[in-house]
Amino acid sequence: MTIGSQFTALLAACSAGISALPSQIANVRDLSLDIPSALLTNKLYGAPANNFSCQSSRNPVVMLHGLSASREVDLNLLQYELNSRGYCTFSLTYGAHPVPSWIGGLDDMQKSAGQIADFVREVQRGTGAAKVDLVGHSEGAVQSVYVPLTQAGIAGIVEHVVALAPAIHGATYFGFTDLWYIGGDVTRALVGKIIDLVGCPACEQLAPDGLVTDQFAAAKKIVQDGNKVTVVMSKSDTLVPPAVSMIDEPGVKNVYVQTTCPDDEVGHAGLAWDKSVWRLIVNALEETDEEVYPCEKGLPF
Ligand SMILES: *[C@@H]1O[C@H](CO)[C@@H](O)[C@H](O)[C@H]1NC(C)=O
Repeated sequence: MTIGSQFTALLAACSAGISALPSQIANVRDLSLDIPSALLTNKLYGAPANNFSCQSSRNPVVMLHGLSASREVDLNLLQYELNSRGYCTFSLTYGAHPVPSWIGGLDDMQKSAGQIADFVREVQRGTGAAKVDLVGHSEGAVQSVYVPLTQAGIAGIVEHVVALAPAIHGATYFGFTDLWYIGGDVTRALVGKIIDLVGCPACEQLAPDGLVTDQFAAAKKIVQDGNKVTVVMSKSDTLVPPAVSMIDEPGVKNVYVQTTCPDDEVGHAGLAWDKSVWRLIVNALEETDEEVYPCEKGLPF
């Protein structure tokens, strides 16, 4: 596909970004919307295939990536880890514009919530499990409580929810490109330019007074009955600080990374790869406080 035809497809398909386009046309000529090849060969890139024949005594786990990320970049390594512990995991790239389809989470979050709800139902039916667990990071963490709150029938089939730094109460700054650090500075810059070009309705919706923030503020109760929610936060997270993530409702566990690993100054993006955090995730899914991983020092950003 040439840049020209991609651009035409983008114009045709992506109404949300159109207002941003005219001034960007000069830039797009130099911008490939294809996935950078350096990423495809990076060992940190790529998630296991969704396998509905997978058998486990535990609930299947649906992984929800953060803003600008995808199923291949973000919780993908945790997914392999959970598989090695006997979990069946499933993931999708939600909220991508038609072009480029490899950068997720940008589109209208209500639309994404519908997409995620369909996927959760598919996982529940496909595996035959009674309940599904959700693990989300950043925007995905927001979706892990937003989807049960807003999508009919989902709260009843979700059991555990683990939300890594959910920007529930309005985030003022987003690490749009931090999750692409695995491809280096060039990839991060490219992803940033593409996001400027195609637009990011989700970015507005997660801001203070954004639609989703307002919906949470208006909800009598964010967490639905029967959902066991753990919010994982780092005191060193400057993008989505704990005050923005915490859910102050009965039954919700709000957990700091530093309570169990005081020397881990992990930042927002780093939550996805940090074993100090993985331990909290596994403990939340298994309803235990057993220490399962030694502490480590996560990425500071
Ligand atoms: C899917 O899971 C089944 C059951 O564990 C296994 O036999 C099969 O090889 C898996 N398929 C893939 C593509 O991994």
